[in-house]
Amino acid sequence: MGATLEKLFEPIKINKLEVKNRVCYAPTGKSHFTEDGYMTDQAICYYVARAKGGTGLLIVEVCLPHTKYARPLHRLLGCWDDSQLAGLRNLAEAIHAAGAKAVVQESLGFGSQAMFPIRGEVVAPSDVPTSIQKGGAPRGLQYMEGVTGTTPRPLTKVEIVELEDAFALGAERLMKAGFDGLEIHGCHGYLIAEFLSPYSNKRQDEYGGSLENRLRLALNLLKKSREKVGADFVIGFRMSGDEHIEGGYDLEEGQKIAREIEKAGADYIHISSGRYEVMNLMLPDKEGTMLQEARAIKEAVKLPVICPNIHDPLTGEKALQEGMADMVSLSRGLIADPAWANKAREGRIKEINRCILCNTCLKTLFSGFTIRCAVNPEVGWERFIPEYHPPIRGR
Ligand SMILES: Cc1cc2nc3c(=O)[nH]c(=O)nc-3n(C[C@H](O)[C@H](O)[C@H](O)COP(=O)(O)O)c2cc1C
Repeated sequence: MGATLEKLFEPIKINKLEVKNRVCYAPTGKSHFTEDGYMTDQAICYYVARAKGGTGLLIVEVCLPHTKYARPLHRLLGCWDDSQLAGLRNLAEAIHAAGAKAVVQESLGFGSQAMFPIRGEVVAPSDVPTSIQKGGAPRGLQYMEGVTGTTPRPLTKVEIVELEDAFALGAERLMKAGFDGLEIHGCHGYLIAEFLSPYSNKRQDEYGGSLENRLRLALNLLKKSREKVGADFVIGFRMSGDEHIEGGYDLEEGQKIAREIEKAGADYIHISSGRYEVMNLMLPDKEGTMLQEARAIKEAVKLPVICPNIHDPLTGEKALQEGMADMVSLSRGLIADPAWANKAREGRIKEINRCILCNTCLKTLFSGFTIRCAVNPEVGWERFIPEYHPPIRGR
């Protein structure tokens, strides 16, 4: 092991879960599932490649617990029906057999961020559409700037409670399937984040207004899920540290949100930054841009904090050494090289196939295709590559 990367490869305990190192795969939608939300061999082999590559914790991409309301993307994973359990179980088993731990990111839905819905009605806390600001698109996606989506219909209270209950049932299915935990998708201006934010939540009832009210949905999801999955199942929460938008919440309020999430029994916080209006902050053109936000959230809570947008192992190690985060996560870096962690651990940093931040992955995803990568031609074809097949017990 490269002596300089000691912290990156130190084990960590989250709730009762032992993770062998501090490298996480950040949730990354790839359109690898069937149109109706079922598992595929492609999805399994993609994750097995990253597990065999030495990643400690894989956070499986956004998974939906219901089919209500609008979706902007094709071929998303679902946990809305017991018939999905078998496929989910295959994924959990395969990741475990390949040496990593596995958490699934559960989303309540897209909210007004379903700007151009493929199917379903666009709903949100209030009738505030998503609008991508000038200068707010990531590299390569400038065509999205200045675009405003469908104006959402505000959800009724009855509908909100139905969603909370569906979420908890989804959480129970993820546990039954054998995953180690779930991560509540509370960032990026998706539905849960829209409730947290004074920018998009203009409600006058108990789900809007004060911070206490804006937090109600997130805290109910945590509590209702905990009742279904028990004390030991990991429940993480992903939130933007700072929304970076006029009328949204700032870092100080982000710290308050994190404290409440901790009090309600979450096991870790995975940060992000911004929301769809300023997508370039969620998907930055350079690495390490969220470290200050991670540090501020870490100052507010005792829970482990995960910071994304790390590309160089030395940046990750420095962030951990300086106490800015407890774990680091990679999305595009692990698309580009599934063996990032093994190469870093073995002192082969120069051999890492680096992401060039061109966002070909996002362009293909938003165009309705499975993702492709400009520097890794294997992405999307892992099912045909024997070294990425799941290890079979007894062989
Ligand atoms: C193709 C793609 C899909 C993504 N899908 C998700 C997702 O499902 N959930 C989520 O919270 N973040 C998602 N993200 C954001 C990443 O988790 C991550 O925070 C972001 O890409 C910045 O980190 P990076 O520099 O390591 O890519 C996605 C990013 C990319 C590039």
